[in-house]
Amino acid sequence: MSYNLLKGKKGIIFGALDEKSIAWKVAKRAHEEGAEFVLTNAPLAMRMGEIKKLAEECNAEIVPADATSVEDLENLFTKSQEILGGKIDFVLHSIGMSPNIRKGKSYGDLNYDWFLKTLDVSALSFHKLMQVAEKQDALNEWSSIVALSYIAAQRVFPDYTDMSQAKAVLESIARNYGYRLGKLKNVRVNTISQSPTKTTAGTGVGGFDVFYDYADKMSPLGNASAEACADYTISLFSDLTKMVTMQNLMHDGGFSSMGISEDIINSMQK
Ligand SMILES: NC(=O)c1ccc[n+]([C@@H]2O[C@H](COP(=O)([O-])OP(=O)(O)OC[C@H]3O[C@@H](n4cnc5c(N)ncnc54)[C@H](O)[C@@H]3O)[C@@H](O)[C@H]2O)c1
Repeated sequence: MSYNLLKGKKGIIFGALDEKSIAWKVAKRAHEEGAEFVLTNAPLAMRMGEIKKLAEECNAEIVPADATSVEDLENLFTKSQEILGGKIDFVLHSIGMSPNIRKGKSYGDLNYDWFLKTLDVSALSFHKLMQVAEKQDALNEWSSIVALSYIAAQRVFPDYTDMSQAKAVLESIARNYGYRLGKLKNVRVNTISQSPTKTTAGTGVGGFDVFYDYADKMSPLGNASAEACADYTISLFSDLTKMVTMQNLMHDGGFSSMGISEDIINSMQK
């Protein structure tokens, strides 16, 4: 159902790789809600992914950008304002990648060059895009910026290795840049801490199926789907949440407040 929540708003959506991507679902919902936006992803992902299909469905243009490259981000924000005919009202950062996880490195055997790459792609890119937007004065008053996080920023999930630190940095950047952009232009900046979700990035983490089922059994509402995450993201882009900023918002069916659930007790009983 559409409520025209984003009618007249212009945005940039990072990270739609394929139909399973959370960013893909956000783009579809943003289109339904009347937004106009530019889609972006790393040049390599463009070749491998299906972003062109999404762009046609959403009547959106694509501007490739490696989110670790300030030059690419400058080009992205400049072109997006040209394409959309004005400043930006919302940005979604839906980007995560760890070479250490990809190569199956354990926490006691991390490659530090890759660790830095993890931080750059998954966290510093969030600072970079906001710094570029600020320097270009590319954001409208009361615009909204959202990045996607995971509870491994606060709790230990052994197979999440260096991505745990990346998410902690990401959430800290949201608070610190949220202060700055709030004072400058009433811009709000938040992270959404999403349940495990069956996407390319999600299922790349070792033991994913087990902690997906575990989180589902722990959460009174079950795991939040990618579609539900898209709905929540749209609410944060809308004018209905103007005073929410510098928050890490749990979108997890209740998981983060649980100690143990009856479902888990029952599954452990001998
Ligand atoms: N899937 C989950 O279980 C889960 C749970 C909580 C949070 N998240 C977060 O949600 C976000 C989106 O992930 P997803 O689950 O939709 O998976 P996904 O694999 O569909 O999306 C990850 C995206 O990051 C992009 N990316 C990687 N390197 C990039 C770079 N250098 N420049 C620009 N883009 C780059 C990829 O191309 C891809 O589109 C990530 O931040 C992820 O950590 C996912």
